[in-house]
Amino acid sequence: MKIGTYYYPEQWPREQWERDFDHIARLGLQIVHMAEFAWFDLEPAPGDFRFDWLSHCVDLAKQRKLEVILCTPTAAPPIWLSQSVPQTLPMYDGGIVGRFGGRRHYNPLSPEFQDATVRIVQAMADRFGDHPAVIGWQIDNEYSNPFDQSEVTHAAFRRWLRNKYRDIQSLNRAWGNQFWNTYYTDFDQILLPPSRDPKYGNPHQCLDASRFWSWAFAAFNRIQADILRPRIGRRFITTNFMGLHPDADPQDMARDLSLFAWDSYPVTGWEKEGDDETYRLADPAQIGLCHDHMASFQNRFALMELQPGHVNWTGVPARVYPGAIRLWIWTAFAHGSEFVTTYRFRQPRFGIELFHDGLVGPDGVTPSEGGKQFAQVIEEMRRLDLSRVPRFADEKPRSAETVGLVLDFEQLWYYLTLPQARRWNQIKWLTIWYAALSRLGARIRILRPEAAWPDDLPLIVAPGVQMIDPKLVSRLDWYVHSGGNLVLTCRTGLMDRTGQLWEGPWAAPILPLIGVSIEGYDSLRDNRFGQIRFEGKTYAWGVWGDQMTPKGGTEVLATYADQFYAGAAAVTRSRLGKGAVSYFGVCSEQPLVDAFVESLAKSIGPERLRAQMMPSRVHVLRRGPYRIALNYQDQPVAAPAPASAKFLIGSARMAPADVAVWEE
Ligand code: GAL
Repeated sequence: MKIGTYYYPEQWPREQWERDFDHIARLGLQIVHMAEFAWFDLEPAPGDFRFDWLSHCVDLAKQRKLEVILCTPTAAPPIWLSQSVPQTLPMYDGGIVGRFGGRRHYNPLSPEFQDATVRIVQAMADRFGDHPAVIGWQIDNEYSNPFDQSEVTHAAFRRWLRNKYRDIQSLNRAWGNQFWNTYYTDFDQILLPPSRDPKYGNPHQCLDASRFWSWAFAAFNRIQADILRPRIGRRFITTNFMGLHPDADPQDMARDLSLFAWDSYPVTGWEKEGDDETYRLADPAQIGLCHDHMASFQNRFALMELQPGHVNWTGVPARVYPGAIRLWIWTAFAHGSEFVTTYRFRQPRFGIELFHDGLVGPDGVTPSEGGKQFAQVIEEMRRLDLSRVPRFADEKPRSAETVGLVLDFEQLWYYLTLPQARRWNQIKWLTIWYAALSRLGARIRILRPEAAWPDDLPLIVAPGVQMIDPKLVSRLDWYVHSGGNLVLTCRTGLMDRTGQLWEGPWAAPILPLIGVSIEGYDSLRDNRFGQIRFEGKTYAWGVWGDQMTPKGGTEVLATYADQFYAGAAAVTRSRLGKGAVSYFGVCSEQPLVDAFVESLAKSIGPERLRAQMMPSRVHVLRRGPYRIALNYQDQPVAAPAPASAKFLIGSARMAPADVAVWEE
């Protein structure tokens, strides 16, 4: 895995460039990422391309054997464009036009903006496309904007709807426009809502709006990818996603990107809950979920931005735990990331991010804590024989050590639009399951309904797949009948893909799978918890609890222990074909899910699922011949290594935030 950094030469005096590149190389970094946000310096006036400075910097990198990722600068349009062609600017609710003076001040659907994009991207690709130092291209930066409200966007939304529904009656049906008589008689009457929140308007429309807006970014991305592809040979094309941010579903760009990348800023200071200091280390399940999600697309992924220390934007600039940055870099390696680059090399002296750490301070020479940890990992990685670590795409994880987690992006949209229980947080629910599955010491495959799934997985968990279609139901059904162990949870299968309930019983399509009927549900007030009994212990829940009646042959594994329905089933299991379906009818806190997954793994048995129970927040992954243990606890733990383990990094006793790598 290569390690590198963002560098913005245009933000520093030219006389310092050579020195900065020397430092980058001396730290052992292998990649420099440049040109993001540099549109004005690359094109100070329309058509006046000034690429010599960038060319000089790419050469400085090459002379030092540094590889270069170039970024298209479209996230920061220049003043001449915003001022002379205001149609390129975003329009917010109420007709307010976005202003120049920061970044992301554009509407991806503006034809004028697209024209300007084509010109700069084409010119850059013509100039640098085949430069031997350039290894790949990042398009734009972190796609995300409020739903645009300009006429151009409304018109594009209407075209998109016309294409999807063909006739207005179909749209009226899909959006349930009988409700409050909100019928449309023509597509031209429709507006894109200003946000995902229907504000007591139409949730089905908001769901389509989320799909459309992600499509809009994908369409804009495609314009750039189509220009780059013929000009850059086999170099990769990527963009940097913000974790599971709802504005852009990476799936929409699956055809256009050859490598998937994301940005990780895991310590915000907001996460502090108890008295411990684990929030300074981040949640390994959140990080792992994003890595594995990225890995599910092209089998090639990377960590594009990694928090190097303090960030400027949280309002709670908690200091990260000593060693945490090293831990995050090793985590990326353990998951199969192709490279890690960090935002940014030098802490800026000016601008909104002047409190943002870099690998070196604003003087350009003094390494920060993060800089030292980057250098440490680079040195440590030399102890591994990386030629024995297959590329992620070639890695064939053993099926007995792999489990599946279904992540269907559009569910995230609909939960935001129509949460029903305000405590419901679908990303958190996925993360809870991810954390529990990680404790098995297994590799987690993110299963997307649109993609192929391996067919020999011993266990698949599908948390809260609220909207479902016959294809997904039959896929799950086939999996179970042929011997799989499936876990479904509350809020699964309630609706079709328009977000409408079935004209039938609650969760109708999955009832034959789960072997219970669902009569209702309960949800408790913030910070209130009910109790569940499972295998002789009591656990807390509060977000959502189904009230259900098991059919004959369905086993009750856990019951509610209080409220008027004390004694009722909360978790059940039914056998079906050669497999079994567990129905986890309650959205509980982490401990119940952990205990359930551990017990389930035991019932599946070691021939089918080779689980090795890990302490919580300790993840262990395999890359080639190496096992990498990551301690996200603020306490020392024993590395779960056999006595015969040969440690290359660390030892059997892992300090807080420590990493151990061994060969078995
Ligand atoms: C990212 C962004 C970077 C930088 C960074 C600061 O979200 O892509 O350009 O602003 O945040 O933490």
